Amino acid sequence: MNFNNKVVLVTGAGSGIGAAIAKGFSENSAKLSLIDINEENLDKTVEACKAKKVEVIKIIADLTKDEDVKRTIDSTVRKFDRIDIVVNCAGICGSGSILDPNLLQKFDETIAINLRTAIVVTNNVAPHLIESKGNLINISSICATLTTKYMVPYNVAKAGLTHFTKSAALELADYGVRVNCISPGYVKTPFMLNSGISDNYIDAALKACAHIVPLKRVLEPEEIAAMALFLASDKASGITGADYAVDGGLLLTGLNALSEHKFY
Ligand SMILES: NC(=O)c1ccc[n+]([C@@H]2O[C@H](COP(=O)([O-])OP(=O)(O)OC[C@H]3O[C@@H](n4cnc5c(N)ncnc54)[C@H](O)[C@@H]3O)[C@@H](O)[C@H]2O)c1
Repeated sequence: MNFNNKVVLVTGAGSGIGAAIAKGFSENSAKLSLIDINEENLDKTVEACKAKKVEVIKIIADLTKDEDVKRTIDSTVRKFDRIDIVVNCAGICGSGSILDPNLLQKFDETIAINLRTAIVVTNNVAPHLIESKGNLINISSICATLTTKYMVPYNVAKAGLTHFTKSAALELADYGVRVNCISPGYVKTPFMLNSGISDNYIDAALKACAHIVPLKRVLEPEEIAAMALFLASDKASGITGADYAVDGGLLLTGLNALSEHKFY
């Protein structure tokens, strides 16, 4: 794949999946606009991408603030004169139970970054994508389809993001712009750590995850990046409004308990 002269904007590029996506594009000659709220982490991704001899701008922004989103897109266009590909990846692990007295506060915080930001970004960047006949990818989650207990804000935000992807895809198809999403399963990133969850819990959770995933392992961020690069490329020119699970088979597990019973 070659993204020579393509300008790619990646949110959440400082860590995990966003960092792997940024590095993947840098290995394929893209010009990069990399955004994160965490400067120290973003610097590491920027350095790794620059080592591939591609042009990179670094933008520190809190994407829950509309003015930061606007500044991000304006700065990218000022620097590169165009935007071809956008990956909305920034997100948090928004836990919260139905019985939690603070549920609504957690819900608002999670919706703000995991859903609203992608809508604000799309709204602001759409004219540039129409001009470049570009495409946009949202990083959703299998939690959009499979619900998990005590993750109400996250589940709802990702379900919204997947449906938003389809709504945007239908409208922007009129202008030759493709919009797709990827729904990762469990991926080895500092996601839970970055959202303030303790090390002990994370270790136990990841062991349990690996056990229930049909492929019997937690995925690597590069496996999500590979799908993002494919969807962003001309090889995927016929694909829009799609939701690709990259989950080690996790979506297959819904009725797995039933397979313990021999009905045949
Ligand atoms: N790791 C997983 O198992 C997994 C599974 C399914 C979906 N996802 C999704 O993938 C995306 C990336 O997750 P990850 O695992 O790489 O997590 P991560 O914590 O490693 O990376 C998320 C990045 O988003 C940034 N960010 C958070 N809030 C921000 C804000 N307000 N403004 C700007 N940047 C902000 C963080 O600083 C961080 O660098 C998320 O949307 C997540 O929901 C992750």
